[in-house]
Amino acid sequence: MNTILVGLQWGDEGKGKIIDYLCLKEDVIVRFQGGNNAGHTVVVNGEKFIFHLIPSGILRKGKICVIGSGVVIDPKVLIQEITSLKSKGVAISPRNLKISPFCHIIMPYHGLMDSLREKKRIQKIGTTKRGIGPCYVDRVSRCGIRLVDFISPGVFSRKLKSNLDDKNNTLRKIYGFKEFSFRNMYNEYKRLAKVLKPYMCDLVDYFYKKNRGGFLFEGAQGTFLDVDFGTYPFVTSSSVISSNALLGSGLSFVKIDKIIGVAKAYSTRVGEGPFPTELKGKYSEYFRNKGTEFGATTGRPRRCGWLDLVLVKRAVILNKITELVITKLDVLDGLQKIKVCIEYKYRGKKLKKFPYDLENITPIYKDFKGWNKKTNPSRKFSDLPKEAREYVEFIESFLGVKAGFISVGEKREAILKR
Ligand code: GDP
Ligand code: IMO
Ligand code: MG
Repeated sequence: MNTILVGLQWGDEGKGKIIDYLCLKEDVIVRFQGGNNAGHTVVVNGEKFIFHLIPSGILRKGKICVIGSGVVIDPKVLIQEITSLKSKGVAISPRNLKISPFCHIIMPYHGLMDSLREKKRIQKIGTTKRGIGPCYVDRVSRCGIRLVDFISPGVFSRKLKSNLDDKNNTLRKIYGFKEFSFRNMYNEYKRLAKVLKPYMCDLVDYFYKKNRGGFLFEGAQGTFLDVDFGTYPFVTSSSVISSNALLGSGLSFVKIDKIIGVAKAYSTRVGEGPFPTELKGKYSEYFRNKGTEFGATTGRPRRCGWLDLVLVKRAVILNKITELVITKLDVLDGLQKIKVCIEYKYRGKKLKKFPYDLENITPIYKDFKGWNKKTNPSRKFSDLPKEAREYVEFIESFLGVKAGFISVGEKREAILKR
């Protein structure tokens, strides 16, 4: 089986936990876009792992983890992630971690540009300031430094010099910022390149020759952060939807059997941008506290709101979702009433189609009765309280897709098959 897994909202749907669970069946776990703006959490035996660049399947023995060409890599973050996992006893070597030569490298000027541009913007995006956008900009403007360039001292030196000429000019003239020193950066990053060199692998050749199935593509971010189909300009700088999985990994010869969409039982968003079902006050606090809704990458409090099925339905269509996973159902335990957005209104009129822009949209809600019983110990669908089952069944029928799994807690084992 080859499976793509993507987020159906604004990221942080719990993709990491589901990848860790699903990869039992698959051999190769592939990240295909984004960078360390992602934070994917897996909780095993009380220990929390947050993956920013390494696929969330790395904890499972015998799995191969792949970072595809669509991913942008901050070498410091990746090396730190490898070192920290090794110190926790996780085996990582070029045997189980393979990185495309065509991944673009995030350099210190990318992170700085990200912060400085954000500061200057009147309409803030609320980026993670990890240099993701500026790195993708360099990729398309063809001045970027790829892993294959990075590990070759001559090429790296030439490319870094020409980039610094340009970047230092901008930093000085536009932002009044002091320049980066070529010598210091080159010496520091040359050492990092040496550490990453053994992990570089021509993925196309390797996987084509091995002809091995069992790919699990791990999407980062969520559909409405997609650079084309998201709530532009409040989006990330990569294509996050399922159709980019093959392009962003170079594994175009793989046939896809399943496309899984992960949706939280409510909604969250980090950063700026429209969010029709956003709650203020005590309900928002409730979700934030009960669901520990703080960014896994930046620690920022996540904005919280009711489940928006109009939005998720759009994501189901865009990604051609064949199976749903609903996460964090347990966070709704104890609520007397639960609301779900089933229609949008704009200027007092019900909308017949999904709008081009989500600004000034008013949600129309359907109310559900809550439940008092804890869902966390449930391991079968029939263990769930009747009201929770009705909630799940309504989601499935609204979206026209069945849930394969329902997650009822952060721990690995807190999951049930539908
Ligand atoms: P990702 O970016 O989609 O992988 O999601 P994050 O890791 O950023 O955020 C999801 C958070 O919810 C993490 O803290 C997870 O440990 C936690 N989580 C995942 N599934 C569940 C669940 O079913 N219930 C609860 N309570 N927490 C969950
Ligand atoms: P995972 O994979 C939630 C958001 C940022 C910001 C916008 C642009 O953990 O679900 P960027 O740094 O990418 O230029 O920021 O996108 N964002 C995420 N929000 N989860 C993520 O990843 C995100 N990655 C980026 O908060 O609003
Ligand atoms: Mg996350």
